[in-house]
Amino acid sequence: SETYPEIKRDGRFATITADHVSYFRGLLGTESAVIDGVTSDSAADDLEPFNSDWMRKYRGHCKLVLKPGSTDEVSKILKYCNDNMLAVVPQGGNTGLVGGSVPVFDEIVINLSRMNQIIDFDEVGGTLVAGAGCILEVADQFLASKGYIFPLDLGAKGSCQIGGNLSTNAGGLRLLRYGSLHGTVLGIEAVLPDGTIVDDLCKLRKNNTGYDLKQLFIGAEGTIGIITKVSIQCPQRSTAQNVAFFGLESFEKVQQAFREAKGQLSEILSAFELMDEGSQALIRDVTKNRKPLDDKYPFYCLIETSGSNADHDSEKLQAFLEDVMEKGIVSDGTLAQDETQIKALWAWREGITEALGHLGGVYKYDVSIPLKEMYQLVEDTRARVDAAGLLGDTDDHPVRAVVGYGHMGDSNLHLNVSTRRFDKRVEEVLEPFIYEWIEKRQGSISAEHGLGLQKKKYIGYSRNPTMVGLMRQIKTFFDPNGIMNPYKYL
Ligand code: FAD
Ligand code: MLT
Ligand code: ZN
Repeated sequence: SETYPEIKRDGRFATITADHVSYFRGLLGTESAVIDGVTSDSAADDLEPFNSDWMRKYRGHCKLVLKPGSTDEVSKILKYCNDNMLAVVPQGGNTGLVGGSVPVFDEIVINLSRMNQIIDFDEVGGTLVAGAGCILEVADQFLASKGYIFPLDLGAKGSCQIGGNLSTNAGGLRLLRYGSLHGTVLGIEAVLPDGTIVDDLCKLRKNNTGYDLKQLFIGAEGTIGIITKVSIQCPQRSTAQNVAFFGLESFEKVQQAFREAKGQLSEILSAFELMDEGSQALIRDVTKNRKPLDDKYPFYCLIETSGSNADHDSEKLQAFLEDVMEKGIVSDGTLAQDETQIKALWAWREGITEALGHLGGVYKYDVSIPLKEMYQLVEDTRARVDAAGLLGDTDDHPVRAVVGYGHMGDSNLHLNVSTRRFDKRVEEVLEPFIYEWIEKRQGSISAEHGLGLQKKKYIGYSRNPTMVGLMRQIKTFFDPNGIMNPYKYL
């Protein structure tokens, strides 16, 4: 491929023919369920959004997109692909950030967007069952109408799908409160490459009958099967929500503030997010919105509380803010007064990804590091990029900024290097430097976005050879022909 000269197309895979297309057309029936660039050239524009990832960093060359409408159709598609050695890429909302959701060569895209039904909801227990293609925000709005909340929230909620969320084991903005999908997902239905339907759509919180197989699909990034339905435990939606945004002089003070927040806000704390000045400067440049705080600080934090008594919660948050300001931990802060202000403050955190994307190429590193050293990675990376003469926002010095933000509550840093355009010189300065830095601190090179294509070569920095070997065996067991999302991390 011209796109990835270092990767060779696996010669065991067949090339799609008109006969294959005709089989899928017959199977799916509906005209719009098949986008076919094999028998006609006119589909090139229609195929583009499925071939290109959210960051415009990864690009495949698929000529066929299939949109099944039922589990049975997914099963028949996969069986046919497996029998005919046709490689596939499962795709949800295509908001993944590691190049996992788009093909590398001509793999068939199996897009789940038609499997978007809310299937069942238990209003007492809070268990939601939905199709994997259900958009996260749609699921959450449905739950809101019942007084519940989806236990995951993230900036891409308007387009990502819950099947994609499970497949990446997305963490998001409230993991600190509601925990990981490994805990909240109660069951899944999935289809294996040979067409076998695995019905583990359990709705029980407790089920210790042997191996918990669904866990393998959570975070598998489409490498062992396709998730078709999800059953998930949803908490009651809090009736009171408050948000505070504050500025701090050092990362040391950010850590102190986090400790105080856990102690003083305890059961109502639902998010503690970190942003550095660089990330806020970028979002200001792009949105031109008015800053929440007048002065500039090296760090900002957003704290959210979710509870059941608005007066009690805001009193607690107000007292917390006064206390940390008195102690000199926080330099300045503001509290949202209503729903509009809550949304506006959240936009300064959730909007960073979009602002970065808007500016050009961005190298993204999603890492877990013990909190103490979390921000040091941003400083060391910035110094390295500068020493290499790449910092400057000019054609010769293409790096605009090296910024950090993330989920402080989960020790999850998002290190982002914003460039005028993707540039091999920049990549070589960043990699494997960043992965080595993480390995030295026993951190994780993939906290929540997954490995995809981006970290294909680097899994060994966070997993030892025994574990990678076991992963390969699991992959081979589920997918002996290797048709599921090939060329990616395994
Ligand atoms: P896709 O991008 O389509 O696919 C992701 C991976 O899952 C691919 O490997 C694909 O093959 C596989 N896959 C998709 N659907 C299925 C299925 N049904 N069965 C099997 N495999 C499947 N992530 C976080 O963890 N936390 C965040 O806070 C966060 N914020 C984000 C904000 C923005 C603005 C953006 C663009 C992304 C963000 N992400 C975040 C990245 C995140 O991984 C995704 O947004 C989301 O989880 C992916 O869902 P999707 O439906 O778009 O999946
Ligand atoms: C976030 O926390 O904003 C997301 O994980 C996306 C990103 O890293 O930019
Ligand atoms: Zn994140």
